[in-house]
Amino acid sequence: MELSLNICAEKCIRCGKCVQVCPSMIIRRKEESGEIEVKELQNCIVCGHCAAVCPIEAVEHSEFPVKKVHAFDYKDYPTPEEVMLLCKARRSNRAFSAQVVPEELLKQILEAAHRAPTASNAREICFTVVTDLAKLKMITDFTLEVFRLALKKMKNPLLSPLVRLLMPDAFRYVPIFERLLRENERGNDLILRKAKAVIFIQAPRESRFGCQDANLAYQNASLMAECLGVSQFYTGFVCSAIEQDKKGTLEKKLGIEGRIFAGMALGMPAFRLAKYMDREEIKVNWM
Ligand SMILES: Cc1cc2nc3c(=O)[nH]c(=O)nc-3n(C[C@H](O)[C@H](O)[C@H](O)COP(=O)(O)O)c2cc1C
Repeated sequence: MELSLNICAEKCIRCGKCVQVCPSMIIRRKEESGEIEVKELQNCIVCGHCAAVCPIEAVEHSEFPVKKVHAFDYKDYPTPEEVMLLCKARRSNRAFSAQVVPEELLKQILEAAHRAPTASNAREICFTVVTDLAKLKMITDFTLEVFRLALKKMKNPLLSPLVRLLMPDAFRYVPIFERLLRENERGNDLILRKAKAVIFIQAPRESRFGCQDANLAYQNASLMAECLGVSQFYTGFVCSAIEQDKKGTLEKKLGIEGRIFAGMALGMPAFRLAKYMDREEIKVNWM
């Protein structure tokens, strides 16, 4: 459908709120008459702020018909104390039970992720949910294979000086990679830790803010997972392997277009942590 935006002159009370909130400044007030008009519609980023702020439904936006716009009450927000408790109590819980994560819960986690802001409201990210056990094993195998190759390079006397030059911190990971590989041989998967689902968040390779968009979506998802009683942790090892691989191997294996920028391993908790702890002193520069 072609994009259209009209401010209904008969309904408009000229409060000017839509003019104030439009980030692209395409909604303006005519100087002479004070009427609100739309100019340069091609710059609309389809954020919907105009329709959300209008007190009398005078904003007619093709992407936001009345049935898509929902009134709500700020009184229904969780209290600051409740949000703070969630921030303090959310943890990466890796102790999963054998239970699968119900699809209904995965859908709510995805919906929360989908609500996160994206740069210029470009909404370029999309999601892949992996629950197939063979595919989950393949993700671990891919990650460990990348780490095995990295170890080989770091232990090769001819290549190691180059690695040291290009990635001085890489050698820090030698004992970690060795442990991951050793444990895997023993049937202990420290990459996905028997997670029953993985959510990958991907964006086009050339996306300027794909990484930021994906990771903001991740955080929404992790807070929702916490509230739903689903355990999760960030698949940093997998993401690091994707970064090192550079060939898009995992994306190809999973049939994902674009690049994975964030990943979440999920499962139902074997148990939950009963306490949260104080953090070290916060470091802030006030200026
Ligand atoms: C970028 C990033 C990568 C991470 N990668 C992993 C990972 O691969 N495996 C894992 O078990 N936890 C991973 N974590 C979870 C961290 O270890 C965890 O957030 C940290 O220990 C603090 O614990 P908390 O999340 O319970 O507060 C990652 C976290 C972040 C932010």
